[in-house]
Amino acid sequence: MKTIRVNLSDNSYNIYIDEGLLEKIGDTLVKEKTPCKTLLITDKNIEKVYGSIVSESLLRNKFDVRLVSLTPGEEQKTLETAFILYDACFDHKLDRNSLIVALGGGVVGDISGFVAATFMRGIPFIQIPTSLLAQVDSSIGGKVAVNHPKGKNMIGSFYQPRAVFIDTDTLATLPATELVAGLVEVIKYGVIKDAELFEFIEKSLYDILQLNHDALLKIIATSCQIKANVVEEDEKEKHLRAILNYGHTIGHAIETVTNYKKYRHGEAVAIGMLYAARIAIDMGLTDNTVFERQLSLIKRLGLPLQTGLKPEEIVKTLYADKKVISGRLRFILPTQIGEVIISDQVTEEILHRILNKPL
Ligand SMILES: NC(=O)c1ccc[n+]([C@@H]2O[C@H](COP(=O)([O-])OP(=O)(O)OC[C@H]3O[C@@H](n4cnc5c(N)ncnc54)[C@H](O)[C@@H]3O)[C@@H](O)[C@H]2O)c1
Ligand SMILES: [Zn+2]
Repeated sequence: MKTIRVNLSDNSYNIYIDEGLLEKIGDTLVKEKTPCKTLLITDKNIEKVYGSIVSESLLRNKFDVRLVSLTPGEEQKTLETAFILYDACFDHKLDRNSLIVALGGGVVGDISGFVAATFMRGIPFIQIPTSLLAQVDSSIGGKVAVNHPKGKNMIGSFYQPRAVFIDTDTLATLPATELVAGLVEVIKYGVIKDAELFEFIEKSLYDILQLNHDALLKIIATSCQIKANVVEEDEKEKHLRAILNYGHTIGHAIETVTNYKKYRHGEAVAIGMLYAARIAIDMGLTDNTVFERQLSLIKRLGLPLQTGLKPEEIVKTLYADKKVISGRLRFILPTQIGEVIISDQVTEEILHRILNKPL
């Protein structure tokens, strides 16, 4: 088992990564938390395959478990669903020493964390992420949220889990499209912080897609470590944490213009990363290989490259974003594979030029 420590003074926690971890989740958890009343939150897809494995392991270790299973999908990440979960907390008589367990992808993790952060002003929670995106990204770092009709993830908080348990075996049942979308975030970590990780993905893509355990362990552990390091330095996203948004500026605009229906998050981010690399080249910050290497990986993953969207539409959406600071956009731009800068020097003119050129 690989263990990664996230050092956040009083809010520090461990990320455990291993195969076959779900069966022994209770045995590992008792080392962190005395058995208590526990609300296990999951979704129907995940419940089918892993619900009883996890609840039985917890029960064997004297956790008093109640399982709640949501309808899968982003549409469920709302205050209305949170309310149903609060009801379950009351029904199961949870108190400040109880536990919420999030078993699932980023949707389950985000809403469970939000409920844990707000029920009785905060009760302990742990994450058992089952999608690659959740394992390398959403389960770490303590951003918890629900969506509002006027904006995604707009109602939320920073609230760290007590521990994260990643079982690489769960990826065996994850649909291939979800695996690939999650891999985009791993490629992102390579571009922003770790040239060796990027090279490893280039060399081992076949093994990764075949779910070879060693390859998965390597990419997941490295990604978790990078995210942990960034979050340790900037827990509340004052500055450095923004580098995790590489590819996300244009990516989010594409998701917004298409109403979050046409592209998976990872697919939109992949396109966003390629445009960001193009911008960096245009501004003389880097050379073409930074773009070409990303393009080649993204093509090998079979991800879409064309949006069919009008550049003006994307630009308009970019400037309408709530994160625009005094009229300037903030971009994360690569200077080489493994290194990025945060820039507010990207002009509308550059954007039009870049977006008008097909990838
Ligand atoms: N908190 C953060 O820092 C952060 C970061 C990135 C993304 N997010 C959020 O994460 C969410 C996206 O997460 P996601 O991509 O995991 O989506 P998701 O939770 O909707 O999961 C994707 C699909 O895969 C299914 N699934 C998950 N694991 C499975 C498994 N092992 N086997 C079979 N099916 C499985 C789910 O039921 C769902 O249908 C978004 O809401 C996004 O806002 C949060
Ligand atoms: Zn992302």
